[in-house]
Amino acid sequence: MARIIDGKAFAEGLRGRIAGHVARIARDHGITPGLAVVLVGEDPASQVYVRNKARQTVAAGMASFEHRLPADVPADRLMALIDRLNADPAVHGILVQLPLPRHLDATMVINAIDPAKDVDGFHTTNVGRLHTGQPAMVPCTPLGCLMLLRHHLGDLSGAEAVVVGRSNIVGRPMAALLLQDNATVTIAHSRSRDLAATCRRADILVAAVGRPGMIGAGHVRPGATVIDVGINRVDDGAGGTRLVGDVDFDAVAPIAGAITPVPGGVGPMTIACLLANTLTACCRRHGLPEPADLAA
Ligand code: GUN
Repeated sequence: MARIIDGKAFAEGLRGRIAGHVARIARDHGITPGLAVVLVGEDPASQVYVRNKARQTVAAGMASFEHRLPADVPADRLMALIDRLNADPAVHGILVQLPLPRHLDATMVINAIDPAKDVDGFHTTNVGRLHTGQPAMVPCTPLGCLMLLRHHLGDLSGAEAVVVGRSNIVGRPMAALLLQDNATVTIAHSRSRDLAATCRRADILVAAVGRPGMIGAGHVRPGATVIDVGINRVDDGAGGTRLVGDVDFDAVAPIAGAITPVPGGVGPMTIACLLANTLTACCRRHGLPEPADLAA
């Protein structure tokens, strides 16, 4: 039976280390890292995320700035807010919650953020830096996956890694991070031929497709480390819903060497890494040494 990779406990530890660094920076330099979150519209899932982000930001000793705009906000008003946040010295990180309403061009909005404050790592400049091996702000979910992998496996050099999914938020940056750690990386996706055979090559299998249970026993090599990024809400058969990953946990756990559960695996790492990125951005802004245990 696979070892369970406890992302919830790891994230708690990470948030504790971040809070320690934040307290030291406040004491020694009188600086408080600040994170601004922009929410456009009233999408219920986004409201939950934004509330959790604000709560955990404050719990880590950082300043949290929340900006809520109506769903029909004109693009120029949103751009003016981003300009203000770019210029605000109390704001070290800016996150615009996605998805945005359809009349807004997400790429244009993200690329209006100062790349040094782009704690999501979605700005084209940060994407280019990551893929060329330069210091970058790194997207939070793949950064969290990398931390869990390093913690459980140590050195990733030479490992066969297969990432299923090619999104800009997870799949592509995950592949870049694994490559940077000297893994041999394959990106598989919906058009890949014989997905199961490709996945069975993996020492490290990362599933990030958003399809409940699509990775089954036939996709996993015995002893592989399986990272499940999926968060899918499905019918629980009793009139309610429950969260499941992209991996069929019950089928894969007896085969894998280690596996992240859903919930309690990758999910809690995302906000912890957002706080890590905000602290990193603050340290870079003020020329302070970056805590070695936070960055990619
Ligand atoms: N919506 C869902 N996940 C994310 C994320 O990581 N960042 C942002 N900005 N929006 C999201």
